[in-house]
Amino acid sequence: MLQRLRSGSSSPVVVATKGGRFVTKLRGSGQGVLSLIAEIIVAEIAEHLGLAVPERVLIELPSDVESDDENDELADLLRFSAGTNLGFRWLDDARTPRPEELRALDDEFVARVLFLDELVTNLDRSPQNPNLLFWKRQPWLIDHGAALPFHHHWDLVDHDTPGDPMDLSGHLFADRLPSLDRHRAPLAASLTRDAIEQATATVPDAFYSAVGTDSALRARAAYAAFLWLRLEALRGQ
Ligand SMILES: Nc1ncnc2c1ncn2[C@@H]1O[C@H](COP(=O)(O)OP(=O)(O)O)[C@@H](O)[C@H]1O
Ligand SMILES: [Mg+2]
Repeated sequence: MLQRLRSGSSSPVVVATKGGRFVTKLRGSGQGVLSLIAEIIVAEIAEHLGLAVPERVLIELPSDVESDDENDELADLLRFSAGTNLGFRWLDDARTPRPEELRALDDEFVARVLFLDELVTNLDRSPQNPNLLFWKRQPWLIDHGAALPFHHHWDLVDHDTPGDPMDLSGHLFADRLPSLDRHRAPLAASLTRDAIEQATATVPDAFYSAVGTDSALRARAAYAAFLWLRLEALRGQ
């Protein structure tokens, strides 16, 4: 069973499986397979930093999947998405936090989120679009498909690109940037090369094959190398 989520810009659909309901980002959406790679790598790194992200599962869609939604556009999208897609466990009754709830979040948590978004160059967490949900009284991070923007232009990436500074002035927690400065060094030290390698190893080859390298292994190595260099650059700050 399949239903469209109305609020999202990446046209996620809710897929009901025997294992539960999953907000599913489709490989055939405008954002494409690269955004699915970003979703996985960033979610894995977030968890290494102690942040909560909904559980991920790979969702295989057949070419003749049935939908509850009588919508031609959706039917096209589903047709383009035959194969491996990315599901996030549905957080029942999750809601966007109120401003006073955001203000009450402790410095340590806020610094982790800022550090994550700085490391993966995520510009998609703003006051207008927090991409943060409250569920079971805990903040959960969602929607990392726009992170890792460098992977849209591998041809422009050189040895210095990973060190490019990021403008966090539009960030959801921009008013709390001093807490990032206080926590950046210990957070950067807490992430190991192994953690980066593990995060990149979680992406299925079916997604890496969209990168355009001659093998999935090369694509994975390129992401790991970029993120490791960026982490080293942040460690130097
Ligand atoms: N795991 C989830 N559980 C419950 N609701 C979710 C979940 N993931 C996303 N949503 C809801 O769907 C909306 C769109 O999802 P999001 O990942 O932000 O996609 P988009 O790229 O389209 O903005 C979110 O703002 C949120 O309200
Ligand atoms: Mg969103």
